[in-house]
Amino acid sequence: MKKVLVIGSGGREHAIVGILRRSPQVGEIYCAPGNAGIASMAECVPVKDTDVTALVALAREKQVDLTVVGPEAALSAGVVDAFRAEGLKIFGHTVAATRIESSKEFAKLLMTKYRIPTAAYTTFTSYDEALTFVAARPFPAVLKYDGLAAGKGVVIAENLSEAQDALSDMLIDARFGEGKVVVEDFLSGPEFSFMCFVNGHKIYPMPLSQDHKRALDGDKGPNTGGMGAYTGLPFITDEDRRFALKEILQKTADAMCAEGCPLTGVLYGGLMKTPDGIKVIEFNSRFGDPETEVVLPLLESDAYEIFEAVACGTECPEPKWSDDVTLGVVMASEGYPGTYRKGIPISLQDRQMQLIHMGTSVRDGQLVTAGGRVLMCIGRGKTVEIARRMAYDSVSKVKCSSLYYRKDIAWQALKK
Ligand code: AMP
Ligand code: GLY
Repeated sequence: MKKVLVIGSGGREHAIVGILRRSPQVGEIYCAPGNAGIASMAECVPVKDTDVTALVALAREKQVDLTVVGPEAALSAGVVDAFRAEGLKIFGHTVAATRIESSKEFAKLLMTKYRIPTAAYTTFTSYDEALTFVAARPFPAVLKYDGLAAGKGVVIAENLSEAQDALSDMLIDARFGEGKVVVEDFLSGPEFSFMCFVNGHKIYPMPLSQDHKRALDGDKGPNTGGMGAYTGLPFITDEDRRFALKEILQKTADAMCAEGCPLTGVLYGGLMKTPDGIKVIEFNSRFGDPETEVVLPLLESDAYEIFEAVACGTECPEPKWSDDVTLGVVMASEGYPGTYRKGIPISLQDRQMQLIHMGTSVRDGQLVTAGGRVLMCIGRGKTVEIARRMAYDSVSKVKCSSLYYRKDIAWQALKK
């Protein structure tokens, strides 16, 4: 039986461990560092996801056959490069390939060079020049910090004063590190997530999904890591999907090969269906979170076979996916995405429900909150309505004094 190491500790990694658990060839699974939900399916080892040296040592000690990387921080820390240098099999991108996510400017230059549809943009390092440029254009202004900023590097400024504050944060205070900002055209239309397994030029698409980035109902409130997701998007046609696959994801995989940094993991296209066609809002170099929690349960093929083929650069049969619909509601700590308390007890009134742990731990035998996003309740069925009913039924069975959730997940699919 194969031994697998999964790197990460969130809901995304819980979903990855979940599909590996179903593989007939997988025996032991280790997760570094994991969480309380993952612990029921894998052995959690307290190694930080960016501690590359300790991760290599762990993979050697446990003699794992394959490692699967969840978070971008681990990829940017060079975990894939280090494992490969040691001859260890790993699913995920090198630091060079991870630039498609870690540098907005790299991604924009790539899209321009290879004619991949996206918003027009200009890059600035000077606050004065950026402000003069923004002031002369219509609002809202889209300002993107060039670097990893854990989802906080994008500001949609509605007026000059908001733009001033954001540019000052990004270029003068250098809040996120060395300052560089991409200013791009504001686009509008429904957003959706298109993830593919990519192995050089070969891509294996996954079902489409949609995230809900804002904290509150009606897409109000601050941006978060994602408050819910679902599959089965009625507003994206087969033709839209074909276009996105051929003109965006395949072209990007080919472009990365031509640039000498082929993709060997997941390519995540954050796309928008604008009146001028489908365009790229962002790329990620890893599974999306919380989209992965609703997409991966639909996989009917052997997950180990896919991860191994992508890690080794070999071909695998086209993955099979269920045509069911899944929907997940995130339950987050009061105060998230700002400050929040941890260690609040959680009780689950139904052990059978499909529950993903995003930020939990166990203290003195009691399940407690341990993060901003804590749990995700998953529903599944033939329609969005059925999946949604099931997910919210599970939400009602989670008892905790300090969790909140959105009540309108999938509103774009259900609006009349
Ligand atoms: P990103 O981190 O690049 O995905 O941006 C976060 C969010 O900002 C996206 O999900 C969009 O809702 C919004 N956004 C980013 N770029 C644009 C754009 N060019 N036009 C309109 N909205 C955008
Ligand atoms: N759900 C968006 C992301 O993973 O970045």
